[in-house]
Amino acid sequence: LSADLTDPALYRSGRQFDAWRQARAAHPVAWTDSERFGAFWSVTGYELGSWVLKRSELFTSGSGMRLGADPSSVQAASNKMLVVSDGDDHRRFRRAHAPYFTGRGVARLGADLARELHAHLDGLVGERAFDVVAELSSRIPTWTVCAMLGVPRQDWSLLAGLAATSFDDAVPHIRRKMASAQIFAYFWDLVEVRRTAPGDDIVSALLHPPAGAPRLSDEEIVFNCDGLVNGGLGTTRHAISDAVVAFAENPAQWQQLVENPHLVDSAVEEVLRWTCAPLHVMRTATRDVQVGDAQVRRGDRVVVWIPSCNRDETHFDDPERFRVDRRGGPALSFGGGPHYCIGAPLARMELRILVRELASRVHRFDLAGEVVRRSAGFLLGIDRLEVVAAKVEVVPQ
Ligand code: HEM
Repeated sequence: LSADLTDPALYRSGRQFDAWRQARAAHPVAWTDSERFGAFWSVTGYELGSWVLKRSELFTSGSGMRLGADPSSVQAASNKMLVVSDGDDHRRFRRAHAPYFTGRGVARLGADLARELHAHLDGLVGERAFDVVAELSSRIPTWTVCAMLGVPRQDWSLLAGLAATSFDDAVPHIRRKMASAQIFAYFWDLVEVRRTAPGDDIVSALLHPPAGAPRLSDEEIVFNCDGLVNGGLGTTRHAISDAVVAFAENPAQWQQLVENPHLVDSAVEEVLRWTCAPLHVMRTATRDVQVGDAQVRRGDRVVVWIPSCNRDETHFDDPERFRVDRRGGPALSFGGGPHYCIGAPLARMELRILVRELASRVHRFDLAGEVVRRSAGFLLGIDRLEVVAAKVEVVPQ
């Protein structure tokens, strides 16, 4: 490949979409030697990317699912936390978590979120510029994930701050490790509290499973709490921020949505395709295997560049256009196969409620400053986004 897809400078320059387009055209599966992370296979097209993610018997997650992860942390979490588990352990964790991510659980969190947002947006929409990241996109996932975990409200911002630090590649390694250790300590304490005083939350449900449901050890529960915090905060935060940028830069699309509220679902799918903060997911080959034209050897790392798959011109019509009425199936933003994002119903619910609430109030988004993007590690997101969200004019009858 001519560009190093792991180089933060590529993402700062905004040229990653050109680099991915060239990679898809020239080498859909390419041996990539990077300065930061050594050598691995890069997969940049949709069909091969989703094939790799579905074939978990050929590609393990147990050796880590992203480039640059701390090997000792991966080793500690392997087969204890959903995202770095395989086989029977992974199926046991999925079954234990599943009831919380379908139907009633998500609907209840959605009702609470809609109430919070309703009041909160009144203070933001109008003539004043505000920072979308601080005032909106970092709050919505925090409200939702912390409520789901049963974290008391007074601790929400503490936990959100620790999660942001522990995942921020710009922060020195030791500070990230300390933040991560504090998250673990927090959940060890919460497990102790919920053991004797259960509530209506996922920690209590995992500690007191109904008869016949899988049982997790305390250690596995704590690892998976950390997984939910890390999986659910930054990803959704960046999707919300980038959605606002997309709507500001495509005012005709926003207008179409405001005039056609039934497009909310397709608009949310398009936001997910367009924004996708996780840049890649990684697997390790469990045996020699042919991937496209490439002969992958056992032990080789295979990296699927998800936002590139989401712009694959052989899979999506006119992929470089942001269209709220796009049809044609989901993007790869939530991954695929057994590790398909367990939080997808929750993330979709958060985005749907937000977009619906905004569409009923905001006539137009205007960027009121530079969009400050973070240099990319695993997540490519936005750190600051000043915007004016102009009110829908109410015409007196
Ligand atoms: C827009 C928002 C989100 C995006 C783009 C996203 C993306 C992803 C992707 C790509 C994977 C697959 C990882 C792999 O294959 O190795 C994944 C897995 C996961 N996500 Fe999400 N996610 C989002 C929101 C959430 C939320 C809200 C939660 C929970 C509160 C969550 C929790 C998880 C967990 C626990 C896994 C591991 C599932 C497993 O290994 O079985 N995610 N996510």
